[in-house]
Amino acid sequence: MEGELPEGTVRNILEQESLKWVFVGGKGGVGKTTCSSIISILLASVRQSVLVISTDPAHNLSDAFQQRFTKIPTLVNGFTNLFAMEVDPKVENDDLTNDDGLDGFISELTNAIPGVDEAMSFAEMLKLVQTMDYSVIVFDTAPTGHTLRLLQFPSTLEKGLAKVMTLKNRFGGIISQATRLFGLGDEFSEDAMLGKLEGMKDVIEQVNRQFKDPDLTTFVCVCIPEFLSLYETERLVQELAKFEIDAHNIIINQVLFEDEAVESKLLKARIKMQQKYIDQFYMLYDDFNITKLPLLEEEVCGVEALRKFSQHFTKPYKPSLTRGTIEELEQRVSLLRSQLKDAESELQKLKKGKEKA
Ligand SMILES: Nc1ncnc2c1ncn2[C@@H]1O[C@H](COP(=O)(O)OP(=O)(O)OP(=O)(O)O)[C@@H](O)[C@H]1O
Ligand SMILES: [Mg+2]
Repeated sequence: MEGELPEGTVRNILEQESLKWVFVGGKGGVGKTTCSSIISILLASVRQSVLVISTDPAHNLSDAFQQRFTKIPTLVNGFTNLFAMEVDPKVENDDLTNDDGLDGFISELTNAIPGVDEAMSFAEMLKLVQTMDYSVIVFDTAPTGHTLRLLQFPSTLEKGLAKVMTLKNRFGGIISQATRLFGLGDEFSEDAMLGKLEGMKDVIEQVNRQFKDPDLTTFVCVCIPEFLSLYETERLVQELAKFEIDAHNIIINQVLFEDEAVESKLLKARIKMQQKYIDQFYMLYDDFNITKLPLLEEEVCGVEALRKFSQHFTKPYKPSLTRGTIEELEQRVSLLRSQLKDAESELQKLKKGKEKA
């Protein structure tokens, strides 16, 4: 049974040389930034150049790598081919909002189709990134809902454009008359604005085609072994299927392993609870690569800690003891044997001491 399952690591991502876009997503605080940082570190060892982008306004790549990043790709300390950048989808579109003509137009459009401003800045960012020639780009995405909205943008924008076009057709030259009336130059004319939007649409459509191509794009779902996270993951997987975005990796983070005989009642109960949900993950996603990561005593901060933790991404985590297996019994027996030996030699020593006295 065990042998039929896909291997429990993310090695498949490292081996898929055609991959260009890797999205890492999941609920808040489950370990997306940690996982995307480590996946990009691992990719940097097998690919020519890697860019990791955070599209989360909370900007936490800087925390993970302990290095300040901006909206310009910056080399990560200690690497020659790993770059990181942090973009805020909300304020990134200075390009679009700084000139008055477009500002009004965009805010009109934003009112008409919520999310279009984010779509535009996302498109701008992708346009930029595409000219930069990285072998593979890893996205540390914002929590679930936001991610899906991001992937929905091509259709959002398309709808927006259609709306604008009907308005334009309906009202004829009113907009251009108005721009002339207010003395705005050609660059603010509705044709220029539409041109800009059309340009964005091209980028988004092109990128969208790439996102729907499983040779180029995959989505890694990060979660923890709890009910809500299982539920969210299922929702995410279904949404991704709806958007035709490939997903075949699940990372279950913060797993408690029964490494040593755990004494704490609380821990024992948590382990049991986690196991219940882990079993369900395996049942629901038997065709996924499921990687389990241990919960550590401390945070995963800085390149060294990330590198150290990365070993669990390529080799399945092996707790030293698994309850109820022959291996565990053997280990227990050998532990008892060695304890017995120690006790016997203690006893011998004591006896000898007594004899001498
Ligand atoms: N397995 C683990 N053991 C211990 N600490 C961990 C583990 N995984 C992640 N952490 C720590 O938990 C915190 C949250 O992780 P991370 O920032 O990767 O989550 P996130 O999903 O990106 O969160 P957010 O939704 O806020 O962006 C970080 O401080 C990280 O170092
Ligand atoms: Mg994060």
